[in-house]
Amino acid sequence: MTGFSPEWLALREPADHRARHQALQQQVCTRLEVLARTEQRTVRIIDLGCGSGSNLRALAGSLPDQQHWTLVDYDPLLLEAARTAVIGWADHVVAEQPVLRLSKNKKTIEVSFVQVDLALDIETVLGWPADLITAAAFFDLVAEPWLVRFCKALRTPLYTVLTYDGHEQWLPPHPSDSSILKAFHAHQKTDKGFGVAAGPEAAGILQRELQLRRFEVTLAPSPWQIDRSETALIQALATGSAAAVRETRLIGAQDVDQWLAARHKAEHCTVGHWDILATPS
Ligand SMILES: C[S@@+](CC[C@H](N)C(=O)[O-])C[C@H]1O[C@@H](n2cnc3c(N)ncnc32)[C@H](O)[C@@H]1O
Repeated sequence: MTGFSPEWLALREPADHRARHQALQQQVCTRLEVLARTEQRTVRIIDLGCGSGSNLRALAGSLPDQQHWTLVDYDPLLLEAARTAVIGWADHVVAEQPVLRLSKNKKTIEVSFVQVDLALDIETVLGWPADLITAAAFFDLVAEPWLVRFCKALRTPLYTVLTYDGHEQWLPPHPSDSSILKAFHAHQKTDKGFGVAAGPEAAGILQRELQLRRFEVTLAPSPWQIDRSETALIQALATGSAAAVRETRLIGAQDVDQWLAARHKAEHCTVGHWDILATPS
């Protein structure tokens, strides 16, 4: 397991939701709205690496009135956390079995929770009926050969948000910022279960591989903007980055400690991401 805790995912959820590129999201929603109206049916969405269900909570309110979500993750504890969080978020739970059926803002949303190791079985998941494949904060974990497999098997529009782009700016600046970022990038490339991770290269690889397969691909920036009003998030982010940098052993422990102490008091932090919409032509 990559060890994403429900607490960390909950802490970052407001910043994740704010960061999403609204115009790109609107394009996705309009597309599904037209489909639902034309075909008079429930739209089907598969969320890869769903964690505790943040992507559903960000998107469902803007999608058509009848939705079916399949939330996929390999971590059973996160799937359980997702069920609990989605139930807590609903206005009303209509049924819990065989699939969770709930209402939220007058929309009817069915949710299935499926445990799959996507490193092994992405082709099967992409073969399930779907109108949209989506993911959030997932694609920078995977490796280039896996991305090629993914793009080969993809037949459905893809909307993926918050893929790390490698840019960070902390304020006020600290003398170790650039060396820490370099070491953090080295850590980004370590194996997260899919082979050598693509990290900040992932968005570019996705774009190239999907364009090769005649998808129309749009990238839109979705940076995190975090200030002192979210001190707990700033501190958790700095602590996580410092831990990753320590694992690389590229920087002395004392330098990492000093950077971390300064970053716990940071006033602002920007972390770059890409949101991507790809549609088969
Ligand atoms: C950074 S978290 C993002 C979670 C969620 N999408 C969100 O935005 O809060 C990455 C997610 O990918 C999942 N993941 C990592 N490797 C996976 C794999 N091999 N198969 C399925 N899920 C995986 C993790 O369990 C985690 O939930």
